[in-house]
Amino acid sequence: MTKYEITGGTPLNGTVCISGAKNAAVAIIPAALLVDGICKIENVPDISDVRLLLQILSDMGANVRRFGPNTIELDCSRVRNAVAPIELVHRIRASYYLIGAELGRFGRACVAMPGGCNFGVRPIDQHIKGFEAMGASVNLMAGYVCADAPIGGLQGGHVYLDMVSVGATMNIMIAAVLSTGMTVIENCAKEPHIVDLANFLNAMGAKISGAGTDVIKVRGVPRLHGGSYTIIPDQIEAGTYMAAVAATGGNVLIENIIPKHMDCIAAKLREMGVKITEYDDSIRVERTGRLRHVNVKTLPYPGFPTDMQPQNVVCMAAAAGSSIVTEGIYENRFRYVTELLRMGANIQVDGRVAVVNGVDTLTGSLVKACDLRAGAAMVIAGLCAQGMTTVEDAHYIERGYENIIGKLQALGANIRRMEEYSEVPAGLVAG
Ligand code: EPU
Repeated sequence: MTKYEITGGTPLNGTVCISGAKNAAVAIIPAALLVDGICKIENVPDISDVRLLLQILSDMGANVRRFGPNTIELDCSRVRNAVAPIELVHRIRASYYLIGAELGRFGRACVAMPGGCNFGVRPIDQHIKGFEAMGASVNLMAGYVCADAPIGGLQGGHVYLDMVSVGATMNIMIAAVLSTGMTVIENCAKEPHIVDLANFLNAMGAKISGAGTDVIKVRGVPRLHGGSYTIIPDQIEAGTYMAAVAATGGNVLIENIIPKHMDCIAAKLREMGVKITEYDDSIRVERTGRLRHVNVKTLPYPGFPTDMQPQNVVCMAAAAGSSIVTEGIYENRFRYVTELLRMGANIQVDGRVAVVNGVDTLTGSLVKACDLRAGAAMVIAGLCAQGMTTVEDAHYIERGYENIIGKLQALGANIRRMEEYSEVPAGLVAG
């Protein structure tokens, strides 16, 4: 088991550099299956979700080369519709992008139902609705999603999503790129990683317009060519460091970000009394006085992200007064609250609403990371608590945060990891 040991109470100070966006990388890597040539991808975060996806592609016959920790070259031209290894697919939510990518490239996909963080039921009916709108027939059989394009391949279609879904928007885009005709996706998600995936695919020859708005149009092209692409910085990783400084106090310059992507997170922290100064590609976060209470509802972008909800709850738990948090995306994303209660937090949860009554101090305790962002929240809680906190199951955190220990130590945090990092998966060739 991977554990983090944290001695809290030290304000964070210094500079931290943000890595590439996880939720862009985990879509772009499977989308490279569509490309007939070599994709050079830079600013790839070195996190376990990315390592798993690279291993899946490598096991399917792709040639994966690494140039240092954050640059890869992917050549999927020799992949011949191999079935992705089920034990790996189960471990990562984003493996659902393999369905769109295989269907688009081979006209057929058979992928195990994806895994990922447990926030209640997470169906993929909207993905399927999109594939069907392009003429595919989709069956769920023995834990697999099997999709077949009609004879002649996928045809452009029109789909109106019943709810704003990041995964469905991206998966339908991926499947549509090599189809015949025009696909229109309405009520799309608008997250920065949607735009990044569209930019990646367009750089390889796709014709996608409207990404970042409610309506995306994909005009099918016969083939994609190789090329180079740089992934955008991770909005949620940056937001997590912002929340960490807000909770512990201190003064940190967060570099390699897109300030526009941080607006919704910065606005809430400003309401709580945090001083935030934006520069071209960095942001300074300073907190000296006590945090103030605030209310927040998580929403699709540009609303406040659900993936920042647990980290912000920690700030509220240490703020003066009562805050109300409404979870607008998932039915069950407050499981981690029981862990915060062990640290002396005063939080009541009723369904999708949490009332967070701020306390003067959190106290160190033995807690668990229930999932990726909940784990990040436990780390922040440990950093601002009095005494020692041990965060168990910290492997969840490493699914999405590159070198979190090193980055926090460089900011003065007293944190250490109690296990070795996993090996780079077999099949990767260092270059
Ligand atoms: N939904 C459906 N049917 C669908 C798709 C979604 O009912 O076919 C529901 C979901 O159950 C959920 C809501 O719609 O209640 C939104 O889900 P969405 O599809 O947007 O989420 P996702 O694609 O499964 C991605 C991120 C999550 C992030 C959400 C929301 C990836 C791999 N995951 O998940 O990231 O919380 O969008 O922004 O991109 C994380 O990074 O920690 C993480 C969980």
